[in-house]
Amino acid sequence: MAVERTLSIIKPDATRRNLTGKINAKFEEAGLRIVAQKRIQLTPAQAGEFYKVHAERPFYGELCEFMASEPVVVQVLEGEGAIAKNREVMGATNPADAAEGTIRAEFAESVGENSVHGSDAPETAAEEIAYFFSGLELVG
Ligand code: RTP
Ligand code: MG
Repeated sequence: MAVERTLSIIKPDATRRNLTGKINAKFEEAGLRIVAQKRIQLTPAQAGEFYKVHAERPFYGELCEFMASEPVVVQVLEGEGAIAKNREVMGATNPADAAEGTIRAEFAESVGENSVHGSDAPETAAEEIAYFFSGLELVG
């Protein structure tokens, strides 16, 4: 399998509870390398642009408000099959359905406030990485 990069976000519910290090440990234990990382606070407009694919969904307003409510940590994870591997480590969107040992099973508070985001395909990973990071910030 090829080495890939994927965009990860540690969401406000997790940064608020000081869980950045515990979540990063899960990535590293799974063989994902954190090759870029920064802590930022999104504006509601930036959160809206990032999640625009969900613009018609009933939870969109709440999601954008939540993502802009407190700082997030945006990061690029790299590894063999990183996109699918990260989704595995994250667990299902709803923590009630997430497999034991996954980030969402251990840390998520609800289906909306679920601690992490991860890209879902190579095209979205490339777009999402470029949304937050310049080539100069990706040193590998
Ligand atoms: P993400 O994009 O954040 O990695 O999460 P995901 O692929 O597992 O889930 P997705 O369907 O893309 O939904 C994006 C985010 O929207 C919030 N959500 N709330 N209240 C609800 O029913 C609901 N459903 C989704 C979650 O924060 C979810 O991660
Ligand atoms: Mg998604």
